[in-house]
Amino acid sequence: MPVHSSYIAAMGGSEADDAWAVHSEARRLSRTGEKDLIVLSVGDHDFTTDERIVDAAVKSLQAGHHHYTPNIGLMPLREKIAAFHSKRIGEPVGVENVAVIPGAQCGVFTAGLATLNPGDHVIAFDPMYVTYYGALIARGATLTQVPLRPENDFRPDMDDIRAALRPETRAMVVNSPNNPTGAVWPRETMEAIATLCRERDLWLISDEVYCTMTYEQPHFCPRLIDGMKDRTVSVYSFSKSFAMTGWRLGWVVAAPETIKAVEHVMSAMLFGSPPFVQEAAMTALDEAEDTVDNIRKLYRHRRDRVCDALASVPKVKLRKPDAGMFLMLDIRETGMNTIDFAWKLLEEQKVSLLPGEGFGKMLAGHLRLSYGASDETLDEAGRRLSAFIQRNG
Ligand SMILES: Cc1ncc(COP(=O)(O)O)c(C=O)c1O
Repeated sequence: MPVHSSYIAAMGGSEADDAWAVHSEARRLSRTGEKDLIVLSVGDHDFTTDERIVDAAVKSLQAGHHHYTPNIGLMPLREKIAAFHSKRIGEPVGVENVAVIPGAQCGVFTAGLATLNPGDHVIAFDPMYVTYYGALIARGATLTQVPLRPENDFRPDMDDIRAALRPETRAMVVNSPNNPTGAVWPRETMEAIATLCRERDLWLISDEVYCTMTYEQPHFCPRLIDGMKDRTVSVYSFSKSFAMTGWRLGWVVAAPETIKAVEHVMSAMLFGSPPFVQEAAMTALDEAEDTVDNIRKLYRHRRDRVCDALASVPKVKLRKPDAGMFLMLDIRETGMNTIDFAWKLLEEQKVSLLPGEGFGKMLAGHLRLSYGASDETLDEAGRRLSAFIQRNG
């Protein structure tokens, strides 16, 4: 039987597939025990979850908490998330604004199902976090990707956004701090986007997974803009902020009516996240909130370290990230194609980076480097990259 053809092309076609193939090969080599490999192509931490959080999950399991839970989360967890959001984002919200979901990935998918109709049009960006396409077409919507140009530091241009509008446009999906570019979009841009959403009666799906990892400036949530609370669905996660990627837990903040729709989607899709994962998350918020700030400090240090380590690599320009765990390397001066560059770098120097094409056409000539690694590893990656350019560049 034929499967849904849109999902075959969901990750952006063959160039994107070629780009991700480099990372798959690095993972395969890592599984075979290949020595000396430096994998900087993955968006995950190089350390495990805080012990306090792990202990809470174990205790919950041992206490026999093995049963179904409410569709959008245990009430005490929703209360704690509401308090965390009120404090960290600066918007007072209650439990009626919060739905617990199994990760931000599922949050974006659910936001699309809860707000879109078949035939609706959604504005997204190029580059974008790859899975948005599959998540947003699930409801039968179409997507236009507006360019985020390197010469504009990967920040959106309102004229480009306006040019993409259609009568059937119903939503926009924004991601600041951004994966893959590491850019934080200026507040004025968010305000202009909000104005457009109000003028055109659009939903704003706002992926804020990296909101606790901004370095020089506080995070700005578009829900704080006048008239945006009812039309913004903000998506958050325990994955990056609490180093809990494998636990699959996140949350959505939206208007109570939207949360009700999310609840229906969740009952069809999930039927409640595991109780021991939710209880561990409660401990994260109650007893291990320092994790969030420690992770931010660690990654700020790593960002500076990797920028220093790579500063003297010939023909490679760095785009110092404002937030998150990724750095863009602009290799256009080498004259090499990024996919060939990444394969050769893996073969010759055993360093795995992700060709920008994995996230969209605007990233041709760029590679994404994840600095979720130790100082020594980042320094060594810099040395190997220099040696590689000296030989090939
Ligand atoms: C921008 C962005 N959104 C969503 C996700 C998915 O996060 P989660 O692990 O919470 O599903 C990621 C993960 O890397 C991401 O980078």
